[in-house]
Amino acid sequence: MRSGWRKGIHFWFILPGVGIASFAISYFSHSGGSVTFEEPVGTDVAKGAALYLEYCASCHGEELEGEVNWHTPKEDGTLPAPPHDENGHTWHHGDDLLFNYTKLGGQVALEAAGVSGFQSGMPGFADQLSDREIRDILSFIKSSWPEKIREIQRQRTEGATTTERAGN
Ligand code: HEC
Repeated sequence: MRSGWRKGIHFWFILPGVGIASFAISYFSHSGGSVTFEEPVGTDVAKGAALYLEYCASCHGEELEGEVNWHTPKEDGTLPAPPHDENGHTWHHGDDLLFNYTKLGGQVALEAAGVSGFQSGMPGFADQLSDREIRDILSFIKSSWPEKIREIQRQRTEGATTTERAGN
């Protein structure tokens, strides 16, 4: 008796559900990209890899492994460069913060996000790299992460957009 009841419920729930899902899919695919991100569409991972080696690897490591003892502050109070692979915390942040961190440097990016009193050892690359090149590098970094971590970072990007942009 119970299973018959359940079947009936499923039937009536699934049908309108399919309708809503197909409406949502067609709505979003017609809305011209309002739910898409700037990466990885239009970014060049291979170019990002080359740029990473040239501009970032000296501190963050050729294999994205970070500096040794990256958890321990240096004598000047700054932290060593963390890894960019899945062992670090780069993927804990949404795209806006990662982009600003690279373009403006850690100090400015954190102050823009409302964090003050932190001494950052991460320089800004606004004079050396174009916005596009920075996105290429970030795409390369992301390409090293397992899909599960990429998905979490995507969600952080969606959730963080409003609050982080508000600080800019
Ligand atoms: C001179 C050394 C140095 C170079 C070169 C460097 N970084 Fe950094 N980076 C750091 C340090 C140190 C940190 C640690 C965080 C802090 O102190 O703000 C950091 C942090 C970061 C963060 C934040 C990570 C997190 O989890 O909070 C990002 C993103 C980043 N770097 C990207 C880059 C990229 C991309 C490049 C190359 C274009 C680069 N860095 C080159 C030193 C460097």
